[in-house]
Amino acid sequence: MTDIAIVGAGLIGRRHAAAVASAQGARLAAIVDPALEAGALAASLGVPHLETLDALLARGPRPGGIILATPNAAHVEGGLACIAAGIPVLVEKPLASDLAGARRLVEAAEAAGVPLLTGHHRRHNPLTAAAKARIEAGDIGRPVSAHVMYWICKPDHYFDTAWRRAPGAGPVYINLSHDIDLLRHLLGEVEAVQAMESAAIRGNAVEESAVILLRFASGALGTINISDTIPAPWSWEMTTGENPAYPRTDAPCYFIGGTQGSLEMPLNRLWHDEGRRDWWAPVSARMSPAPETGEPLLRQVEQFTRVVRGEEPPLVSGREGLATLAVVEAVKRAAASGGIVSPAACLAEAVP
Ligand SMILES: NC(=O)c1ccc[n+]([C@@H]2O[C@H](COP(=O)([O-])OP(=O)(O)OC[C@H]3O[C@@H](n4cnc5c(N)ncnc54)[C@H](O)[C@@H]3O)[C@@H](O)[C@H]2O)c1
Repeated sequence: MTDIAIVGAGLIGRRHAAAVASAQGARLAAIVDPALEAGALAASLGVPHLETLDALLARGPRPGGIILATPNAAHVEGGLACIAAGIPVLVEKPLASDLAGARRLVEAAEAAGVPLLTGHHRRHNPLTAAAKARIEAGDIGRPVSAHVMYWICKPDHYFDTAWRRAPGAGPVYINLSHDIDLLRHLLGEVEAVQAMESAAIRGNAVEESAVILLRFASGALGTINISDTIPAPWSWEMTTGENPAYPRTDAPCYFIGGTQGSLEMPLNRLWHDEGRRDWWAPVSARMSPAPETGEPLLRQVEQFTRVVRGEEPPLVSGREGLATLAVVEAVKRAAASGGIVSPAACLAEAVP
């Protein structure tokens, strides 16, 4: 059994606590959060409640692993404390609210030899594995282009929490990082980014919508259209059933096109023209049974316990989280400057 403590028991921390409680090989060790409700949560789960990470690290026995689900701005400090204590840590995405901080975290973990994982849980979803297998098997031929839709409507009360109205907490940092991480996973590194953002509807300091152009190192292109103020069926959240809190639609949200066909996610529907590559040829869909969603948070925790036990490397390492964050940073800079931005250049400039 691997003892896992949750630090930050808000929206996602509570789901991590539930995942740990039902994961194979894991046991919930403690809930760490200064908020009053966290005490009640810990009591209901029958585990100790502590107000700070320092208090957790000061008491014994220490947990085998820590899931850090605090607000973005607290990820680096908390992650560094876990690493200094030699405790493997799974940091919620984005790895940090700035690239230099994320790089500092990754370099500290690598120097100390302490596993650092990023909470891009969608990579643990069997839907993702099915799409990756199709692409790697050549079912769509050579990838040419991809389009990602993320239109969703966050309710007004979501913005009652001050940090969610502040720069760094908008859909580009909070939500898009998952989509960019999956695009990197499916199509490889992104070498150039252009973007525009808007906050015209709510008028907060943080963006609510963005349109993004990507060029992958392979030569493939990508577009992402993201907004958190549009009621719509097209987003990973609404289409995959990954989180039962979102009413599920049967619409697609990702479109990945290649020289031999195109793939719709999450249905894993392959559109093709029997290899004719001719616009007069009929295009039909080959449906495989859509893979089960398979509770990615649970799978992520179970993988974390295997990493803690030294049985396997992280599926999504800190370095992967850093590379994804570099693309997100490139989106922010491209939107601010109106220019074309290289994620690799952003990373090189982010001196810890
Ligand atoms: N993987 C996902 O799908 C997903 C979903 C939502 C949020 N997130 C990420 O998880 C993180 C938390 O988001 P949220 O929506 O749950 O936020 P939240 O505001 O609902 O919860 C954050 C919690 O952390 C606590 N906290 C703040 N500072 C702390 C500290 N220093 N030590 C201990 N506890 C502290 C707060 O009291 C609060 O309960 C963010 O980084 C966010 O991007 C990931």
